[in-house]
Amino acid sequence: MVYQRSAVEALPAYVQGKSIPDAIKLSSNENPYPPLESVAEVVRECATSFHLYPDMSAAGLVARLAERWNVRPEEVAVGSGSVEVASQLIHASAGEGDEVMFAWRSFEAYPILVQVAGATPVPVPLTADDRHDLDAMVAAITDRTRLIFICTPNNPTGSVVTRAEMQNFLDRVPKEVLVVIDEAYSHFDDDPESVDGLEFFRSHPNVAVLHTFSKAYGLAGLRVGYAIAPERVATNLRRVAVPFGVSTLAQAAAIASLDAESELQERVDVILGERTRVVAKLRDSGWQLHDSLGNFVWLRTGSATAEVDAILREHGVVARAFLGDGIRVTIGSPEMNDRFLAAIGNTAPAA
Ligand SMILES: Cc1ncc(COP(=O)(O)O)c(C=O)c1O
Repeated sequence: MVYQRSAVEALPAYVQGKSIPDAIKLSSNENPYPPLESVAEVVRECATSFHLYPDMSAAGLVARLAERWNVRPEEVAVGSGSVEVASQLIHASAGEGDEVMFAWRSFEAYPILVQVAGATPVPVPLTADDRHDLDAMVAAITDRTRLIFICTPNNPTGSVVTRAEMQNFLDRVPKEVLVVIDEAYSHFDDDPESVDGLEFFRSHPNVAVLHTFSKAYGLAGLRVGYAIAPERVATNLRRVAVPFGVSTLAQAAAIASLDAESELQERVDVILGERTRVVAKLRDSGWQLHDSLGNFVWLRTGSATAEVDAILREHGVVARAFLGDGIRVTIGSPEMNDRFLAAIGNTAPAA
């Protein structure tokens, strides 16, 4: 038999949010709205030149991001979705025998990416109210800890880390440990107390920020994300990146999306209004939910998860179930959310 790494063969496959014909898909935290016309137009223009490789340095996009965030281009690194940039961050920071820490439950790709890099995942359980347990994370730091992901708002629980909590945390993390603030859902976070990753990037030499165009910007299918990181780290991210990982279409669409931010914000505002409506209806019908600051809600269904998930599917709603734990439901368009609310009405609320 051909040799393969046993660490890789032991990995669970990354589970994509399912699609079922005629059902609505609320399982991948996608933006429910179609691409903006201005963005689609730019992508159509690029469709005549995809026989050519993209600009490997994504210079136009990097320059535009640097301007947008008032950082230097040398501090920006892009990838094929922020999941690839997360992988770059791990590969640049940790190898065999090194530890990468994250809260758990959180973005399910973290433990997989860490093991692919040959490093050791250190999941630290969330608090009873589904928030990062930053004290426990500090206590779990060892001399092998190389990188810590802080996911805020946290996927799938929607909880956030406040600015004060982050300051207190960073005061206790050794300066050699890279802290990555994953802000995939930050556009949906309207809590003024929440951490602003860029602020901590500017004040701490060991902080990087991870952003994506997949959620609020609605480019999930084009695959583009980026880190803003200390120059030395960003240089290393480019070293470990998959060459030509960000297509010309993705680069152009990302720039066009940055140009259309106010139009996209209107859509985000509708999603926020819908989140408020969905949460209120769920609470009215007996569900106990913590506030979610992402474009999704988290139902703590525990041992009833499979049963609730099956009922949702029977009623044409595909959500993301984590067996034994809970169900994450993306906030969709008003019509999709109505369908979800009708479907969930067939279940008994988990207290
Ligand atoms: C917290 C978090 N980070 C990163 C990602 C990766 O997104 P993408 O690779 O589409 O940028 C996701 C996707 O669901 C996520 O939930």
